[in-house]
Amino acid sequence: MKKRASFGSLIALTLDAAQPEPLYQQLYEQLRGAIVGSRLPGGTRLPASRVLAQELKLSRNTVTSAYELLSNEGYILTRVGDGAYVANILPEDRLLPRKSSKADGPPPAASHPSLSARGRLLTELSVTAGPAQPVPFVADLPAFDAFPLHAWARLMVQSWRQVQPDMLGYADPAGYEPLRELISQHLKATRFLDCVGQDVIMTSGSQQSLDLLARVLLDHGDSVWVEEPGYVGTRSALIAAGARLVPVPVDGQGLLVSAGEMLEPRPRLIFITPSRQYPLGMTMSMERRKELLAFAEKSGAWIVEDDYDSEFRYHGTPLPAVQSLDRTGRVIYLGTFSKSLLPSFRLGFLVVPGYLARAFGNAKSVIDRHPSLLEQMTLLGFMQSGQFAAHIRRMRQLYEERQQVLIQEIERKLGGFLQITQAESGMHLVAELPDGVDDVSFCQAAKSWGVSVQPLSAYYTAEPRRNGVILGFAAIPPKSIVRGVERLAAAVASGQATPPARKLPPGPPVR
Ligand SMILES: Cc1ncc(COP(=O)(O)O)c(C=O)c1O
Repeated sequence: MKKRASFGSLIALTLDAAQPEPLYQQLYEQLRGAIVGSRLPGGTRLPASRVLAQELKLSRNTVTSAYELLSNEGYILTRVGDGAYVANILPEDRLLPRKSSKADGPPPAASHPSLSARGRLLTELSVTAGPAQPVPFVADLPAFDAFPLHAWARLMVQSWRQVQPDMLGYADPAGYEPLRELISQHLKATRFLDCVGQDVIMTSGSQQSLDLLARVLLDHGDSVWVEEPGYVGTRSALIAAGARLVPVPVDGQGLLVSAGEMLEPRPRLIFITPSRQYPLGMTMSMERRKELLAFAEKSGAWIVEDDYDSEFRYHGTPLPAVQSLDRTGRVIYLGTFSKSLLPSFRLGFLVVPGYLARAFGNAKSVIDRHPSLLEQMTLLGFMQSGQFAAHIRRMRQLYEERQQVLIQEIERKLGGFLQITQAESGMHLVAELPDGVDDVSFCQAAKSWGVSVQPLSAYYTAEPRRNGVILGFAAIPPKSIVRGVERLAAAVASGQATPPARKLPPGPPVR
């Protein structure tokens, strides 16, 4: 039986229960088609799910499932208590290379001057923006739904009230001094860092810290060890600076120093993620930390320690930071508030050996003067009032719960298929696929079922690559985790995600 409805004069919907596609999928596709085809323009308010369900004589769950899929993919934005609106920037607009739109202007004509070689390189390396909403199982995002936005807003207003006239001009390029001091105390207490406030250089996040580091410490053609597999943001910043990347394999104890030494005995910089190797998740052993420090001293290299999410360790005490073991001033520590607070704040920092602090502060002034003073004052208030520590404690518990839900659901619905390999801490899981299943094809198939998983092979620069998937859980509420795993199981059962020999029996029904 066909079911029809129309949104005023904007679009007509026709759903047919006799079709093999579930009704929620038909609804999702028709709405998506109308959004992409601009029949439902950005900013249009969608009818409440209850109203549309009544009009189409469907269950409300069918409509909410379609809305959820659209929202997960970034076609609509849902505001608590205010319904759903068509997004102004669609996922298609976020893809690279970007479609030309009116705002981009016409493509360059042959007579236009061309980009510099550096400009072309930066364009190619562009670090893409992820989905607008926390789609299951997007990695690298914290829980938007649990951030105390009202408390932050209150502190921001308070910060404006405290501003003195002499704070309205340019500020210290290295950052707001009371904040640098407090961050240094926090790092001494939690990560045993050997530092003072003057060593802390505030940045707009790790991406800027990496750019700053590369500009201040590297010359064109300098060789740099990077972990294999590793973080794309680091690689992009280094390649953009003209560095020669030396991918060094990792094992269960972290970076293989002996392998690196054979590949390139005189690197200028060595990048590591020792608290939790990115993306595989193991902790660098104490033995390996000491071996690396001894090698750096012998070869004259700097070590850059990216401590991006060490707050989210669920069991045991963390090992002290590599910087805390360094006696010769060759470790630079990278911190970010993108995981502990929100990525959109663009707040992070470097802790540099004292002798480099002036050089970094001066270089920072050339690049962007300094981060917004107001944001730094708000962060200071958040930390001083104890709300930062409380938020971390809450998120640690929340992320552990979300991780447990994801593990249980995978074991129940995909147990014979996905093999979880690392689940002690952090914000994402790594899982292996059965032999013969290609991770890139698997992730593409998952995407067509509305699930975003990342292929592990994409984090490698060269062969051999491990085949697997990265599943983020920190940003995903438990209900969405359950539905996401159901959809993954349905993708597997449909055979789209697997070679014929590995088809699983049909999974549970997907709404
Ligand atoms: C390894 C690693 N370092 C740092 C960051 C944070 O980057 P930023 O501070 O630029 O947001 C991320 C974010 O995903 C990451 O995965």
